[in-house]
Amino acid sequence: MIKETILVLDFGGQYNQLIARRVRECNVYAEVKPYTMSLEEIKAMAPKGIIFTGGPNSVYDKKSPHYDKAIFELGIPILGICYGSQLMAYELGGEVATAPVSEYGHTEVTVDNSSVIFKNVSKVTTCWMSHTDYIAKAPEGFRITATTPVCPVAAMENAEKKLYATQFHPEVMHTKQGHEILHDFVYNVCGCKGDWKMDDFVKTSIEALREKIGTGKVLCALSGGVDSSVAAVLLSKAIGKQLTCVFVDHGLLRKNEGDEVEAVFGPKGNYELNFIRVNAADRFYAKLAGKTEPEEKRKIIGEEFIRIFEEEAKKIGAVDFLVQGTIYPDVIESGLGKSAVIKSHHNVGGLPSVVDFKEIIEPLRMLFKDEVRKAGLELGIPHNLVFRQPFPGPGLGVRIVGEVTADKVRIVQDADAIYREELARAGVDASLGQYFAALTNMRSVGVMGDFRTYDYAVALRAVLTSDFMTAEAAEIPWPVLSKVTNRIVNEVKGVNRVMYDCTSKPPSTIEFE
Ligand code: XMP
Repeated sequence: MIKETILVLDFGGQYNQLIARRVRECNVYAEVKPYTMSLEEIKAMAPKGIIFTGGPNSVYDKKSPHYDKAIFELGIPILGICYGSQLMAYELGGEVATAPVSEYGHTEVTVDNSSVIFKNVSKVTTCWMSHTDYIAKAPEGFRITATTPVCPVAAMENAEKKLYATQFHPEVMHTKQGHEILHDFVYNVCGCKGDWKMDDFVKTSIEALREKIGTGKVLCALSGGVDSSVAAVLLSKAIGKQLTCVFVDHGLLRKNEGDEVEAVFGPKGNYELNFIRVNAADRFYAKLAGKTEPEEKRKIIGEEFIRIFEEEAKKIGAVDFLVQGTIYPDVIESGLGKSAVIKSHHNVGGLPSVVDFKEIIEPLRMLFKDEVRKAGLELGIPHNLVFRQPFPGPGLGVRIVGEVTADKVRIVQDADAIYREELARAGVDASLGQYFAALTNMRSVGVMGDFRTYDYAVALRAVLTSDFMTAEAAEIPWPVLSKVTNRIVNEVKGVNRVMYDCTSKPPSTIEFE
């Protein structure tokens, strides 16, 4: 299995996942763990290197996260980023102070190319800065390897002890040569060889799943989305007909999606597996009636899912394992890591405490989305399915603001189908990270013919994103938006207004709830 690991020790930075993804892009496995991980646990993990993330705190504040100084004596290479760099300086006797001017955004940094981590970087390079404190004086034994007009120590290192630090963020795309910096750290400082490859992952996962499951029966929660589809195919390759996939149509899917999923995975589809479709829309609508609080809605949908699986499992008899397509960002964002809980994700935070199965298997739990797609291609899953835009587990439940009703579902399904059709027709869909229609809970006055209307407003969303943790609103050509608007107000009963969501993430999120 995995031989080389880079440990990303999270001090509360918003880019913790990005750091891990960027390292994995270098074909080296990286895992995010909270800074509360003990020194003993780190020793047991034996990572090839450690990266300290940034964080919002000041190191001289006693309540801020710190780490046992003994970590610097383990002989494991460490790269401190932003807060992580200040922590290294502070703990090792340097000075950290409030910078005379905060640096935020694109910043020109002058580097010393004799440093191993800057040897493939231009002498003056653009980096992303985001700090109010800075290292005023490097600790003894360290040399300064980068500066800016504001920052006397934009990077420092003690090469002998394999300790490196950058005030800027190499993991962020805006740092032009960040990839080179991280690459050189993991290969030339940590000595990694690069053994994290998707073909290996698929092969070893199949073997490990076979061994773990033996002759057991497995039930898979299939939604038709990329994650659960890849998980299902991985399982079907490992254990064939021991696998039963249950597809719960919760009535919160996109228009016609239930039938599309059945066409691919059902008896007339491409794969060797037992397929059961449960049409449960009424059950979900009944549970959601009168519920308006987003987290409560998410929990209800997640819990009802599990109940239905339990029921199906009982019908099938003696099921040993439940498979879910949870992926790594879900795990981290649901607060199982250390970052703040923004939304409790379906299949993770929404799990009820009592589940009637021996064990839950999450074969993609450690993968980022782009890695899941690579695994999907490795497994021979059709390209259009692998590159399908993401769809949240709670489905339209989080795209209908406020109470969910069958009629609102119909409105948002029809509006969304028109939007998708027109974006595809205009050829702009492929460039978008995610796009959909949502139903605001706002009704307003309009006029249709000679009559007053009092109907809903549909919101259109389209974002550009590669990681789904940050996103920008996409510029959709006006004629396309205009056509979509006309079609929606004319063709979808109950809508008299269409709006375009111009917000980025942050401060918004991609989904409405
Ligand atoms: P947000 O709204 O948090 O969404 O900016 C980020 C990405 O996650 C998707 N999403 C989910 N995916 N289960 C999922 O599998 C969920 O509960 C869930 N909620 C949001 C969302 O569509 C976007 O791609």
